[in-house]
Amino acid sequence: MDAQANPLPEKEEVRIRPFWYSDYWIFPKLITIVTTLDKHGRINAGAYSHIMQHDVMHKNPRILLGFRNTSHTFNNIRETGEFVINCPKYDTLADMMETGRFYPDGANELDYTNYTMIPSRKVKPPSIAECPQIIECTVDKIYELDRTQGHVLGKMEAIVMDKGLAALPRAERLPAMNLPVGLGDEKRKYYFYTSTHDVVMHELGDPPDVEVEPVAGEAEEEAAEADAMEWDAQALEMLDGVPKALQKMVRGQVEGALLDRGEKAVTGALFKGLAREFGLSEELLDRYRTDADTAA
Ligand SMILES: Cc1cc2nc3c(=O)[nH]c(=O)nc-3n(C[C@H](O)[C@H](O)[C@H](O)COP(=O)(O)O)c2cc1C
Repeated sequence: MDAQANPLPEKEEVRIRPFWYSDYWIFPKLITIVTTLDKHGRINAGAYSHIMQHDVMHKNPRILLGFRNTSHTFNNIRETGEFVINCPKYDTLADMMETGRFYPDGANELDYTNYTMIPSRKVKPPSIAECPQIIECTVDKIYELDRTQGHVLGKMEAIVMDKGLAALPRAERLPAMNLPVGLGDEKRKYYFYTSTHDVVMHELGDPPDVEVEPVAGEAEEEAAEADAMEWDAQALEMLDGVPKALQKMVRGQVEGALLDRGEKAVTGALFKGLAREFGLSEELLDRYRTDADTAA
């Protein structure tokens, strides 16, 4: 790179203060409306963007949400154990923002929007018809952080999407869904967004062949780890079929799970059972295959 034409940017350290995550750090985020019922059965809706996948395997798929611990939504989730995550479209930003206002306890924010409530499939709080992707959840765990925030791990009971969307290739699905991407706020008053309407695609190729110098003792450590449990021929053959990039992780997880169950060796049958349990399907493994796997 020509350092003169493109000088590297100068850096400054910024003080870490409350609301650092919004005041200067930029976290582009998924925007959702969480619907709940309170303990009296009254509907509540709130705008929430602190949301992330937690366990991505299909055996126990979970999602993480963060709440101010005095919010109505958090209290309702604590009291009833159910909630629905609705992702609104960019075109309905004004209605989504309405659900972010501080309405009094017991008010249904959706009554002040153009959204349509529809029954959910697996839980009691309603879903929002205008939202193209929806997740219905029950509570798996709740963590309270120093009396400020609550984190909820939601067990995903159902993913519900507008018919036909799930089958669309991503390049068509993104503009069709046109989801808002939250870009934070200024003074809790001015909220910034972009949308998934205009997107660019980059292809991720295989990495170049790189020789990495071994660290002292690493080879012995790996050999000791590999000797930790006996593998029968069928199990070894199955491990060989796992993409190279995942083999070490899969070996460790299989041995860990089987040791926990008191097994002394990895057999093909035990490996197969675990693969089924953890959703380690061929389709999933194919995602991780590179040229190095197909060449082998
Ligand atoms: C776009 C947007 C995203 C928000 N995300 C969160 C969030 O992730 N966590 C949170 O505690 N509050 C968040 N808020 C604030 C809540 O929406 C707000 O406190 C609302 O009044 C909560 O409603 P409730 O008390 O009925 O749950 C967000 C607000 C907006 C507008």
